[in-house]
Amino acid sequence: QIYNAGGFCRVVSTKPMPGTQWIRALTNVGCRVEVCIENKTILSVEDIISLIGSRCDGVIGQLTEDWGETLFATLKKAGGHAYSNMAVGYNNVDVEAATRHGIAVGNTPGVLTETTAELAAALTLSAARRVVEADDFMRAGKYEGWLPSLFVGNLLKGQTLGIIGAGRIGTAYARMMIEGFKMNVIYYDLFQSTRLENFVTAYGEFLKTQGEAPVYWQRATSPEEVLKEADVISLHPILDKTTYHLINKERLSLMKKDAVLVNASRGPVIDETALVEHLKANPMFRAGLDVFEDEPFMKPGLAELPNVVVVPHIASASKWTREGMATLAALNVAGKVKGYPVWSNPNN
Ligand code: DGY
Repeated sequence: QIYNAGGFCRVVSTKPMPGTQWIRALTNVGCRVEVCIENKTILSVEDIISLIGSRCDGVIGQLTEDWGETLFATLKKAGGHAYSNMAVGYNNVDVEAATRHGIAVGNTPGVLTETTAELAAALTLSAARRVVEADDFMRAGKYEGWLPSLFVGNLLKGQTLGIIGAGRIGTAYARMMIEGFKMNVIYYDLFQSTRLENFVTAYGEFLKTQGEAPVYWQRATSPEEVLKEADVISLHPILDKTTYHLINKERLSLMKKDAVLVNASRGPVIDETALVEHLKANPMFRAGLDVFEDEPFMKPGLAELPNVVVVPHIASASKWTREGMATLAALNVAGKVKGYPVWSNPNN
């Protein structure tokens, strides 16, 4: 699909993206926009090489694509100078290779913070209160009447929330859970989150004025400390070699037997095979997963377990956010084409 056939520079989007604002962001600065409408979920490096063709100024790509040496060398050769992921995460992008080839890399932070945090909250509630299991039960026609022990789950109010990775999304999620369920929070991050600490302190003071028990924060010095203390643990780090399999067999064994583990960051942060074993051995332990180690696949056995809720990497999937991500990705590329710095630029 082609927009503004007369444009003086050529920008390719490897996927159709929601809304039309992103197209205008590019055509307004004189770009011809070509959208790949190939009916294939994941494009290979070869597919993308043929999309880049012999002349291409910039590409908007997706987190399912392998943006490494080959693609950046191809883009450079085609005269390109900008690439943007339509995602905040860029673990699929070799930023060093892009920099070597003089290609600016963009990503799309900010617009997905609240939407992603909301999905993490939805997974937390679904897992803690066994919503999906209960829904399956109803649909299977198994409900024969109220029982004192039917689908008993965990109360969140007043429990301890553990956050690993207290950046934008981790902090927004913590805020929702603290405000909604008056949870205390323990967090681990390489950086101090004064935003999170100040919020909890101020909210705790407010609760006191209402005659309610205040809430507290604690900054942990290790992930282990969070795993041992928290009733709900939500993972929000970036994926790199320091966070690969951050949650492994040993660390799972530190967690409370009835803890809830949520992951809406990147699948490989959890050793999924170890998680399957842990869920099998601990039926009271529950997980809510938006991401998987080898997407689109789940490790054998995971889908059969009742104590896990799984959704297909949809944390940022609200209309407003997805249109915003597309627009930011386009602005990243359009900015570079106009000679401005890329708005959000990991290799700046
Ligand atoms: C991201 O942006 O990195 C998410 O995983 C998809 O929204």
